[in-house]
This record gives sequence, structure tokens and C-alpha cells, in this order.
Amino acid sequence: MRKPLHIIILAAGAGTRMKSRLPKVLQTVGGSPLLAHVLDTASRLDPAGIHVVFNPAAPEVCEACQRPAITWAEQTEQLGTGHAVQQAMPGVPADAEVLVLYGDIPLLEARVLKKLLDARTVGLKVLTMNLPDPTGYGRILRDEGGAITGIVEERDASEVQKTITEVNSGIILAARPVLMSCLEDLGSENSQSEYYLTDVFSIAHAKGIQTTGVTAPVAADLAGANDRIQLAALERRYRMKKSTELMRAGVQLVDPGRFDIRGEVKVGSDVYIDINVILEGDISLGDGVRIGPGCVLKNCQLAAGTRVHAYSVLEGMRSLGACDIGPFARVRPGTVLEAGSKVGNFVEVKNTSLGKNSKASHLSYLGDSSIGERVNIGAGTITCNYDGVNKHRTVIEDDVFIGSDTQLVAPVTVGKGADIGAGSTVTRDAPAGELTLSRSEQVTIPGWKRPVKK
Ligand code: UD1
Ligand code: CA
Repeated sequence: MRKPLHIIILAAGAGTRMKSRLPKVLQTVGGSPLLAHVLDTASRLDPAGIHVVFNPAAPEVCEACQRPAITWAEQTEQLGTGHAVQQAMPGVPADAEVLVLYGDIPLLEARVLKKLLDARTVGLKVLTMNLPDPTGYGRILRDEGGAITGIVEERDASEVQKTITEVNSGIILAARPVLMSCLEDLGSENSQSEYYLTDVFSIAHAKGIQTTGVTAPVAADLAGANDRIQLAALERRYRMKKSTELMRAGVQLVDPGRFDIRGEVKVGSDVYIDINVILEGDISLGDGVRIGPGCVLKNCQLAAGTRVHAYSVLEGMRSLGACDIGPFARVRPGTVLEAGSKVGNFVEVKNTSLGKNSKASHLSYLGDSSIGERVNIGAGTITCNYDGVNKHRTVIEDDVFIGSDTQLVAPVTVGKGADIGAGSTVTRDAPAGELTLSRSEQVTIPGWKRPVKK
């Protein structure tokens, strides 16, 4: 019988090297906090318990990473990684197998951990990695037989030890009693006067407890984020992994190095994405969707055949069929675009449905509107949806033609097949099938002379 797995995640460090007010584990990679990535990976292992060690002076960590069934353990003083693990131990049952993860290692994959868990745990196990440049990491010390005799932190390492390229990933595994017996003996005689978790290895070795190291195949996924430079490197790696997944799924990314993804993207076949596109949140792109350069999309669903032209910004919208957006369009939350519709350049649309084959090709604001099918919205049309206190709806029925430079003062309805003359301010409902316009008579002053400069 396998022992119940309990995962301890260390997330109480201040992250001084980030030089930020934000606690380190709330710095983001791919748009979500470092800790959220680690929690996702941890839950993929179906553990019996997840224990997160946090600093009670930074409760925003808990708020930002709320999940069901997390036990939060407080570490009031940041006395080191060993001390942090000690804070979580009272919540871990006696028969548990304990996996320790660091909250600043976001790209770690569950399958790597599964391998570590699959092998039977005897004594104390650590996941190690080989780095051509091991700077900053704890070095793994082994005896001739390959057993781990200890882990030495960079700051405490001798010149010879610093040349060791096998380093501590920070991920360790042990039965609770084994880990506990080593934690009890931790001291803080080191350059930082901290209780280092890593010292459990020399303690275990001295006690005759078996210590083993399993080397991870892809070291880059185990990189930690201590400073902004490492954070940027992780972002780059995250992006490369995500874009590789998309390309494997058949997406044409014109340049995966000039593309950003901060969330989950579902794709159909033959999706084309030009350079400098940012995809955030939950995105789904149907077959043949094309996204032009410089577009930013957040939480959008685009139906098959939809085209988004250069420099458009889309958020919280859906297209229900092939439609045309941009260039330079701004489509805001609550917008639904039906097949054949068009939102052209310098058009802003918010909380509006645009029916089949309806077009707003230039320079308009459409907010809180229901627009039917085959409607033409002339350039410069504005729905005046806000009276300074409340928002009101504009209803434009099928086959309406709105002339250029029209203001529709909501609440207002333009009936089916109506025409609105250019330059009108429409304050009352316009009847179906008729021409409505509000425009002052054009006058010409004969013999008018321009003023001359005195
Ligand atoms: C640590 C390891 C190092 C390893 C590296 C891998 C120690 C002493 N060193 O160094 O051997 O190679 O990770 O990335 O363990 N934390 C707390 N409370 C504390 C201190 C830290 O919760 O009192 C948390 C931090 O929030 C962080 C994690 O523990 O998530 C690791 O701490 P950090 O300071 O980043 O350790 P490193 O210097 O990277
Ligand atoms: Ca770290």
C-alpha cells in the first residue's frame, strides 16, 4: 500500500532579489502567479493534502491562490527553507509520504514528479539537475559510491565545490518520520544564519539514512525565479513550450519568438497567427482563424473563418461565424459578432450584438446595442448609451441603414428597414421602413466676405 502523498509548497519567502513589493510567488509567468503554476502541478498528482507555507504578513498570497483543500501554514519569521518545512509538518499525518516543492519553480511538470514518485522511496530523495552554469544553486555533494553526503549552498561552498555542476532543484521526497527526524537536528550555522532544508541531506547521511538523487532530464523546467532576469528567462521558456504545443496542434505561428501566450488556447485546424500577438486568458480559435500582427486578445472565442486584422484589441467577445475585425478595432466584453459581420477600423464595440452581414466599417462607437441583420452603420456613428448616470440600450432592427455621423441617443429603437439621414441626432424611435433625419436646413449667405487681417 502506497503511503498517502502530502505536498508541502514553500511560499513564504520575501523574494528580496526581485526588488518588488509583490511577494515573490505572486510574480507572474504566462499571466499567472508562480505559486498558481506550482499548485496546478501539485494537484495533478492527486495528493491527499497540499500544505502551503506562507508569510501571514502577505495574506495576498492566499487570496490570489485560493483553491479548495489547501492547508495554509504560517511562517511568521523567514528563517529559511528548513524552518518553513517545519511549520507545515504539524498538519502532515504520521503515515504520509512528503514531497516538498518550492513556490518559485513554475515550469515543473507533473510527469517529472510522477517519475520521482513511482520509484519506491527509501530514506531521503532529491531531484537534481545538471547545469553548465550552476551559479546560485545548492551543489550536490556525493561520495565515491554516488551516495549524497550533503548539499552545500553557493554562499557556503568552497571554490572546488563551486565547480560541481549537479545542483539541487529544491524538490525532495521522504516518509514523514524520516524527514522529521532530520529536520529536528537542523542548525543555522551558515553564512545566512538560516535553517536550510538542504542540510537534511548531511544529517541523514550522518544518521545512516539512505540518500539518493534522481537527475531530471530537462533542467530548464526546474529553474527557479529569484530575480527579474530569471523571471524573464522563465517567461521565454513558458512561451516556447506553449507555442511549440500550438504548432504541434497545427497552428502557423509566423514567429514563435514574437508571440506571447498567457493562458489557455484551444485551436482548430489551419489557424494563422502573425507576429507580436498576445493571447491572454481563455481563448478559442476555430478552423482557419487568422490573426494579424500586433493584436491583443483576452478571453475571446472566434468561430471558424474569423479574421482579425492588424492592431486590434479584443476582450471578452465571441464571433459566431466568419466575420471581419479591424485593423485597429477595439472589441470589448459582451460583444457577439455573427457570421459575415464587420467591425472596421477605429470602431469600438461594447456589449453589443452585431447580426449577420451587418457592418460598421469606420470610426464608430457601438455600446449596449442590439443590431439586427444586414445593417449598415455609417462612419462616425455613435450610440449615446450613457446619460451620466445610467446605461441605456439601442436597438437597430434588420436592414437598417444608418447614415454617417449619426448619434443615437439611447434608449432608442430604429425600426426594420429604416434609413437615418447622415448627420442626424436621433432622440426618439425611428419608424420601420421610413427615412428619419434631424438636420438643420442648409443655408448659403450670398456675397459673404472672409474677414481680413487688420
Ligand atoms: C534554494 C535551495 C538551493 C536550490 C534552489 C533551487 C535552500 C537553502 N536552498 O535556494 O539549494 O538549489 O532553491 O531553486 O533551500 N521560503 C520560505 N521561507 C523561508 C525561505 C524561503 O517559504 O524562510 C521559500 C521561498 O518563498 C521560495 C523557496 O522557499 O519559494 C526557496 O527559497 P529561495 O530563497 O528562493 O531559495 P534559493 O536561494 O533559490
Ligand atoms: Ca529560489
